[in-house]
Amino acid sequence: MRNAQKHHLDLELKAARRQTDELFQIVRPDSLYERPIPERHRIIFYLGHMEAFDWNLMARRALDEASFHPTFDHLFAFGIDPPAGQLPQDAASEWPGVEEIERYNRRTRDAIDESLAKVPEEMVHAAIEHRLMHAETLAYILHQLPYDRKLPRSTADDPPRASIPRTTFLEIPEGMARLGNSPDNGFGWDNEYQPLAENVPAFSIGRHKVTNAEYLEFVRQGGSPPLFWIERAGAWFYRGMFAEMPLPMDCPVYATKCQAEDYARWRGASLPSEAQFHRAADSAVPSRNTDFRYWDPIPVTADDTTEDIPAQMIGNGWEWTSSLFAPFPGFESRAYYPNYSEPFFDGSHYVLKGGSPRTAARLLRPSFRNWFRPSYPYIYATFRLVHS
Ligand SMILES: [Fe+2]
Repeated sequence: MRNAQKHHLDLELKAARRQTDELFQIVRPDSLYERPIPERHRIIFYLGHMEAFDWNLMARRALDEASFHPTFDHLFAFGIDPPAGQLPQDAASEWPGVEEIERYNRRTRDAIDESLAKVPEEMVHAAIEHRLMHAETLAYILHQLPYDRKLPRSTADDPPRASIPRTTFLEIPEGMARLGNSPDNGFGWDNEYQPLAENVPAFSIGRHKVTNAEYLEFVRQGGSPPLFWIERAGAWFYRGMFAEMPLPMDCPVYATKCQAEDYARWRGASLPSEAQFHRAADSAVPSRNTDFRYWDPIPVTADDTTEDIPAQMIGNGWEWTSSLFAPFPGFESRAYYPNYSEPFFDGSHYVLKGGSPRTAARLLRPSFRNWFRPSYPYIYATFRLVHS
């Protein structure tokens, strides 16, 4: 690595570590062994996972260093994404103590910092982005931890409020969608390649993400309420990261793809395909609600500038697409992380685009693709409608 680039990546890795370290400060010390989401590991796994991943990738694979704790290298190596009905069954008592994990983490960081200059640049990028993605996944996991087990964090400023928008649709003329990424463009994950141009017939798309107010009409007609909502004495509340609040009508509804599709059908519309999303997001600028600025959504109109561009295509909530997560032509997995994408090209995961309040700025590039199961309700994911 060149010196300036090396220094820059070193700083980025340290900033990403601060981001994930801070998340563990939210958890009351007696709650680190909780499992807020049944389909995911206990919180304690993530305390060891990010360091084990960095160690396995940069020290073991890249530099062939001898392992000082093979048990932890293995125990903390991989997250889980079980199909319905196959929930993890491990007991809290099966996991090691916090102090031993923190010792492992310190030693790992010291070893990596010492030899970072020798690690191929691409692997350092992968380690930084892997950690930043966990800064988001851990946030949505901790979102489900009961309030009395969390120590609240504030944000730099108060989130904006706005009026509820009228639903308007914007015409997108027929044209080429540019998906994928070019290898000359800097770091990207395997599933972002190769570049792919796809002709998209004309369609219209919601100028804004679907709001809680709009979705509430559907719930009143029998639609299924999102996991983030709770009804008390006939009124709906939003379960925010650190407190409940009256349902913010002007904010995007966070919902599953199944709920999004049901809603779209009820309105006589559909969800955009990945290619339609790219067409509509052609001149998108990021919402202010991204890169860890706020914990909860802001109004769908909070970033409105010009009237003829779809708002908040980037940030304030990932957007479900109707497209199955699948490789672009020319896909090749990376030897240093062969299972990053390939196991999820299984016909059970769908593409999400854009970004959420907890998505790092680095991951907001147009080619970045996120993917989840269509009924997974915990993520900061919303949607908008299209008429094709
Ligand atoms: Fe991971």
